[in-house]
Amino acid sequence: MSDVEYPAVLASGDVPRPGEVWLVGAGPGDPGLLTLRAAEALKRADLVLHDALPGRAVLRLVRAGATILNVGKRKGQAPMSQARINARLIEGARAGQRVVRLKGGDPFVFGRGGEEAIALAEADVAWRVVPGVSAGLAAPAAAGIPLTHRGVASAVTFVTGHDEAGALPDNVDWAALAQAGGTIAAFMALTRLDEIALRLLAAGRDPATPVAVVSQASLPGQAVLRTTLGAATLAVRRSGIATPALIVIGAVAGLAAQLLPALPVPVEAVARRRAGT
Ligand SMILES: C[S@@+](CC[C@H](N)C(=O)[O-])C[C@H]1O[C@@H](n2cnc3c(N)ncnc32)[C@H](O)[C@@H]1O
Repeated sequence: MSDVEYPAVLASGDVPRPGEVWLVGAGPGDPGLLTLRAAEALKRADLVLHDALPGRAVLRLVRAGATILNVGKRKGQAPMSQARINARLIEGARAGQRVVRLKGGDPFVFGRGGEEAIALAEADVAWRVVPGVSAGLAAPAAAGIPLTHRGVASAVTFVTGHDEAGALPDNVDWAALAQAGGTIAAFMALTRLDEIALRLLAAGRDPATPVAVVSQASLPGQAVLRTTLGAATLAVRRSGIATPALIVIGAVAGLAAQLLPALPVPVEAVARRRAGT
């Protein structure tokens, strides 16, 4: 008997079948970064539950007559609880609908896609995942930052700056990350940057380590703030840079200066205008 498994969870058909739930990655916001499979799934879905991150341009692909539910944070309203989202997905599937659960970036990167997949499997609902372009990849690319670079960074860590209560997660070993020396790509970390910087500096990371804060990557408000680990907290506070933002920490963030002239949009200009410098 072989130990090799061939799981059928990666969406392989073109569109969800009735009674299936597809967990679909919407990418970082620009509809041009949506996968073809995600676009097809949206066009054929009967019910779409989406977070706050996927933009209007992506949602325009949903066919007229389909039900669209925003289950993320909306002005003045709390997001729908995870338990209610799970229940709604299961209810839709049991009613024979083609259900798409649309999430910013990739569903399995800080997107709770795993929790939803477990709930669906436990309820015996067929589910599939359509990977998306994570902000962890798209945001550095938008700023001309290669996450890895020969001779500069041979490893990259995706980390969150936010646990369920909004605090810095206590199961992340920041000292080990500091000493590992590779690139750190921090999600949901803007409000915790001061603590992150302190921990990395305390563990020996050089205060001159380049840092780039990439805001609203691929969206019209895209902006980049370039700073250093030692100066990052103050620079972010002064800039008023907007969320969502991804923070890239490491020598690769300093390479963008060489690469920027090749970029079509002078992304730093927006951050400078906002910062009033
Ligand atoms: C709940 S996590 C979702 C991550 C998503 N599943 C992914 O793979 O990109 C939300 C965080 O992703 C990052 N993010 C999402 N979209 C972004 C964008 N367009 N530009 C910069 N960062 C973004 C921010 O750090 C934001 O706080």
